[in-house]
Amino acid sequence: VELSADITAPPPIADPPEIRFGDAKETHVDLPGRPAQVLSLPGKILVTIRDPGLLVILEPGSMKELGRVSVAADAWGVAVSPDAQAAFVTSAWTHTLTKIDLSAKKVLWSVETAREPRGVIVTQDGKSVYVNHLVGADLTKVDATANDAPNPQRIVLPPDPLNTFTGDKSVSASQGYALLLSPDGSRLYASRHALGALWGWNGNPTIDGLSVADDQPLAPARGGKPLGTLTVEELTMPSSWADRSGSIAGIATMSSQPRAMVYRKKTHHILSVSESMVVIDELDALSISPGTISNRRYRLGGLAPKEPTKIQIPPHCGAPSGIALSDDEDVAWVYCRTTDNVVAVRLTPDGDRSLNSETSFLARGAYHSKLSPWGPFAYVKLPAPAPPSEDYALGRRLYYDGTEPVMSGRQSCAGCHPDGRDDGHVWREHKPRWPDQNIFAAGPSITREVGSEEKPKYGVPRQTPMIAGRVKALGPYGWRSESATLVDRLKAGFGLHMGNVVTDGATLRFRAEPISIFLRDGLVPPPHPERELTAQEAQGKAIFENPKTQCATCHAPKSEFTDRSTMPLRGFKTLPLFDEEKAPLGYKVPSLLFVGGTAPYYHDGSAPSLEELIEKNQDRMGHTMQLTADERAALVAYLKTL
Ligand code: HEC
Ligand code: HEC
Repeated sequence: VELSADITAPPPIADPPEIRFGDAKETHVDLPGRPAQVLSLPGKILVTIRDPGLLVILEPGSMKELGRVSVAADAWGVAVSPDAQAAFVTSAWTHTLTKIDLSAKKVLWSVETAREPRGVIVTQDGKSVYVNHLVGADLTKVDATANDAPNPQRIVLPPDPLNTFTGDKSVSASQGYALLLSPDGSRLYASRHALGALWGWNGNPTIDGLSVADDQPLAPARGGKPLGTLTVEELTMPSSWADRSGSIAGIATMSSQPRAMVYRKKTHHILSVSESMVVIDELDALSISPGTISNRRYRLGGLAPKEPTKIQIPPHCGAPSGIALSDDEDVAWVYCRTTDNVVAVRLTPDGDRSLNSETSFLARGAYHSKLSPWGPFAYVKLPAPAPPSEDYALGRRLYYDGTEPVMSGRQSCAGCHPDGRDDGHVWREHKPRWPDQNIFAAGPSITREVGSEEKPKYGVPRQTPMIAGRVKALGPYGWRSESATLVDRLKAGFGLHMGNVVTDGATLRFRAEPISIFLRDGLVPPPHPERELTAQEAQGKAIFENPKTQCATCHAPKSEFTDRSTMPLRGFKTLPLFDEEKAPLGYKVPSLLFVGGTAPYYHDGSAPSLEELIEKNQDRMGHTMQLTADERAALVAYLKTL
């Protein structure tokens, strides 16, 4: 997009702000597949392509292709060494990190990582590469200088430790899209979602810092001797929000589903955009926990309608997912993914803290919202192909939006089903005192009842299922087949994800129907290359289809590998810290499409891998007792091809 004066020079400050609407003057490049990230370097532009997995190198200006390098499918993140000789590419679905020699345009090595590697960054000394993951809290670190495949190292970085009960080791993380270095290279920031940290039902969005010199977290895990006068009973039986070692350090103020970050050097702020909320969060980069210290929020999409009869989302921007700064750091450009536009934002000159009077005013005895002069001054519409229908476009917006009051309590569909995949998390479905219905919670700490003297209720386990490519059937949906159709399941979800108490069918349907269209037509299933099965995989297929093992009777290959029947399960014990499931114990046969990439398994996540699932299955599902070790390995190899 051409950086014309329209989007680089903000007009004089006015209240209400003056906003220009225009179309992008763009250079259009056809790419060999869906792009994920773009990195602009002197003399070259790098673009990752998801399927087929590629790094494409373009010439700035002419945008001519200078070359392309094949990498593992689902290429996503890209970073380069300080001398720009090597590029590092993460491939999400195929969980690999690849090093590429940029002059020779050749792969030097690729190594396997944990699930869903996304954000990637090279340290300033060029020695290490760090990778952030969509599933799990640990980062991956790799020797960047190695010319042969190095051994990846797991770096422990506790998510949001200041909002975690002392000693609570259960907090996990998801949504690790972005990584950022401080200007002096000494601190690494990882933005993600802390599953089970205190305050939100869903945990907290967080930016966790790591000291690059020694790989130690900047914020300490809470420990040591408790402060104050709490008794031993109070300390060991938390019955309120008060932390066992005193009080909670801070409340997350950044928006859910962080997606991209940039460092504003002149004010030492991190500017973070999150897909669920249409704002830039300006956060204190010098804090040990930047996500908790919000300086200002720049609203990006205009004011959402207030009438309950309307869908309440901001009109001009949806799912902000990329951010860049001008050289003078006074203008930020944000890419809005679900509205196909770019918004130009006027930042405050000195990083002033926001005042309520900038965004709200009192009239006729009530508070009203208004736009601040600090915020958008121009929107440019990208000439992207129009969405296939209005319903599809609305469904796409709602899939990412975490603020629509009927649908979501600050975590959108994409927050648990990123790319239509899954967060690898086992959610708890429980019934608090309020609202009067079941809701989800992310971890044991936050399912504890406030002020309750009873034994804590933890709820029943509900592992997030993958949905991309698995929702063609009419129904039923849900692990326990609770919902007859997809739309029914979405309506039920609106309650589970926030405790929505709206029961008016039309209000719910009005939102659920467009989303169901986007789920079926818009979500792109993971890459699945057509190829011949190996001898081992073919042997596994025969075992799967053999009437003796019975796999194919329930997991019918013709219909997404499920016959959608519901049946009682054998051999499941209630896991520690979960409540007993209520009878009748019927569970739906889940689809096995893409099952190789969706660990852990079962509704309660009790099988960490397919190998372990088959090993312990015995005659629980179908029959596997009679299989030899080789036959089991073959069956697993086949499952991974589905
Ligand atoms: C807080 C995490 C979370 C959010 C947010 C969320 N989901 Fe889910 N989703 C889950 C879990 C967990 C399940 C399994 C629950 C069950 O079966 O009882 C599920 C189940 C589903 C299913 C049923 C799949 C099947 O095969 O039976 C669909 C479809 C679905 N979600 C779509 C959505 C959509 C669309 C949204 C946004 C409106 C959404 N989800 C938001 C966690 C989430
Ligand atoms: C009688 C029907 C039935 C048969 C036969 C059966 N399954 Fe299942 N399968 C299920 C049900 C029901 C579940 C869901 C269990 C739950 O809710 O935790 C399931 C779950 C799974 C899962 C976990 C999926 C996930 O995403 O968590 C895998 C993998 C699987 N089955 C593989 C197999 C294999 C391999 C065979 C053959 C040895 C087989 N199944 C035979 C009914 C069956």
